[in-house]
Amino acid sequence: MIVREEQASDRTGVEALVEAAFRDLAVSDHTEHLLVARLRSAPTFIPELSLVAEECNRIVGHVLLTPVVIADGVGRTAALGVAPLSVAPDRWRRGIGSRLMREAHARAAALGFGSAVLVGHPDYYPRFGYRPASAFGIRFPFEAPDECCLAVELLPGGLCGVHGTVEYPSAFFG
Ligand SMILES: CC(C)(COP(=O)(O)OP(=O)(O)OC[C@H]1O[C@@H](n2cnc3c(N)ncnc32)[C@H](O)[C@@H]1OP(=O)(O)O)[C@@H](O)C(=O)NCCC(=O)NCCS
Repeated sequence: MIVREEQASDRTGVEALVEAAFRDLAVSDHTEHLLVARLRSAPTFIPELSLVAEECNRIVGHVLLTPVVIADGVGRTAALGVAPLSVAPDRWRRGIGSRLMREAHARAAALGFGSAVLVGHPDYYPRFGYRPASAFGIRFPFEAPDECCLAVELLPGGLCGVHGTVEYPSAFFG
């Protein structure tokens, strides 16, 4: 399995994969593939942070990181929003999601991003260093349980003194 940057020719396959990954998820609104399409078309899109996992010429995983801002009345700090992370259902629990997350973090840190945030399962993301965002004083503009609102430092001290509300690009909201 290799992890590489998504190419334009991957787009249809990626969207089918994302749709399949979330298809049977009760908490999903089943529009994650549309979110990927919108975020790709947004001016904020960073091609280096849309990664695919490929096995034998088949795309089996995808992750997208999009610039966000963490803002309070005083400061505004650039960060990344992780969404969505998708693995083909027949390839779950083989480490593909973990490879994608670790590779995405490494590439994001190399680009100078100090932190990432996401709304996700509290049993899955701590293995990549995520902690409740509330511990940093970071809030999300979504109705989501506190334990699902997570943040990680990608660079040492990346969230030092950073607090406020996460501002997502408008493409996030359809
Ligand atoms: C979540 C997902 C990306 C994990 O991908 P994966 O390649 O199966 O994950 P990995 O193989 O790297 O890790 C497997 C581990 O994660 C755990 N895990 C997988 N999905 C999980 C979930 N939704 N919640 C909690 N733990 C989960 C597994 O139990 C396994 O744990 P173990 O290592 O202790 O056995 C994949 O299941 C998926 O695409 N799910 C549907 C879409 C989705 O939920 N995306 C995330 C949105 S927050």
